[in-house]
Amino acid sequence: MSKRLVAYFSASGITGNVAKLLAEAADAGLYEIKPAVPYTKADLDWQDKKARSTLEMNDTSSRPAITGTGAAVESYDVIFVGFPIWWYVAPTIINTFLESCDFAGKTIVLFATSGGSGFGKTVENLKGSVAASAVIKEGKILNGKESKAELASWVDSLGI
Ligand SMILES: Cc1cc2nc3c(=O)[nH]c(=O)nc-3n(C[C@H](O)[C@H](O)[C@H](O)COP(=O)(O)O)c2cc1C
Repeated sequence: MSKRLVAYFSASGITGNVAKLLAEAADAGLYEIKPAVPYTKADLDWQDKKARSTLEMNDTSSRPAITGTGAAVESYDVIFVGFPIWWYVAPTIINTFLESCDFAGKTIVLFATSGGSGFGKTVENLKGSVAASAVIKEGKILNGKESKAELASWVDSLGI
């Protein structure tokens, strides 16, 4: 079986819960992508258009710093990368994470939670942050209600 890691960013815990269950279902390691500067309540009020227009995280070239020991990506074959959808795409902290490790030759499977949106241009936005030899699969929007068995059968269906 491939060696798998589930790496996730979660601002309010929903993606984190899914990530933990997915790690069990996929027999994978678990790694949390943590922002060096935590997002504030105002940052996370995504209905507030004023907040949105002033936030660096709304700029696709922004790279919010991450903190922690690093994900030891080199020891895995498949890395599941999970995040909440923010304004129709992955938060740019995911670009920071991808740029902080060497994903050459790795398979990356995305998963996300959202209030209803799909991945939009996420893959396009993330491609430039990994080596050309890395494969990024769009994966799945998970709503947090999937059972461990459902997640396991999704992982099986990926053929990885
Ligand atoms: C800044 C921000 C932007 C968001 N943008 C979207 C969006 O475009 N579409 C959507 O369906 N949900 C959006 N959401 C909702 C989150 O994707 C959803 O609540 C997610 O499950 C939160 O995951 P978390 O608890 O792991 O942070 C947004 C939330 C935040 C905080």
